Amino acid sequence: MTQWRNRIFCEDALSGMAQIPDGAIDLIIADPPYGLGKDYGNDSDKLDAEAYLQWTQAWINAALPKLKVTGSLYIFLTWRYSPEIFVMLKQQMTMANEIIWDRRVPSMGGGTRKYSSVHDTIGFFVNAKDYYFDLDAVRIAYDAVTKKARSRSIFIGAKWLELGYNPKDVWSVSRLHREHRERADHPTQKPLEIIERMLKASCPPGGIVFDPFMGSGTTAVAARRCGRDFVGFELNPVYCEMIEQRLAAIEAGSPETSLE
Ligand SMILES: C[S@@+](CC[C@H](N)C(=O)[O-])C[C@H]1O[C@@H](n2cnc3c(N)ncnc32)[C@H](O)[C@@H]1O
Repeated sequence: MTQWRNRIFCEDALSGMAQIPDGAIDLIIADPPYGLGKDYGNDSDKLDAEAYLQWTQAWINAALPKLKVTGSLYIFLTWRYSPEIFVMLKQQMTMANEIIWDRRVPSMGGGTRKYSSVHDTIGFFVNAKDYYFDLDAVRIAYDAVTKKARSRSIFIGAKWLELGYNPKDVWSVSRLHREHRERADHPTQKPLEIIERMLKASCPPGGIVFDPFMGSGTTAVAARRCGRDFVGFELNPVYCEMIEQRLAAIEAGSPETSLE
């Protein structure tokens, strides 16, 4: 069998997935083309609506058997096709959350016949009741002022007060700008902060995350930083090279991968 762990395959995910054994993956993070005609140096985002949804169903059918019974999936979508794709996934998994990623887009102009869209819709799906989920790894610490305000005796010793609260389903994280150190030259690169939260919550330490559409390799970089393994696919050879460079920078301890 091909060596597949900690590997980026520079090829089509749909045909390439056969190289990954069934039931081997702890977590799938999928950030597919959105069906909006974006330019990834290939025609992958140029399908019409019907072809796009057929292609989506095909890769979902190929990817889900790779998950362990305790496995989960996060999928990045936009409002345009999330309703149809959530219905597809609900045939095979249980939907745990719809997460809204508020990209903190500044207010400026935009269309005049509807509201400006400034979020991604992320679906969080799980395979079974006993899916892996480590809430303590992603709790958000209270600041001193809030903690003091909750100092009534009934709250003292409460786990949520000491360890922090459960992240809510609206994640407000800035999209990446040129000045962010982690920024690579990819049109839809995701922030490490988001991918690392998914990994820490939904992939055990030493476990393996599968990303069929690696882009600039954020999932692989995050996996390396969090002590998880990865496997992924990317069609565009320029992006494949970018991923190798980002991974090499981590091995070299480069501040380029710092979140500051
Ligand atoms: C939305 S982007 C992923 C961005 C990534 N999450 C990041 O943080 O950089 C989707 C990527 O999927 C790639 N892609 C599209 N179709 C593919 C396919 N069939 N197999 C593998 N990669 C594909 C595109 O070239 C593009 O880079």
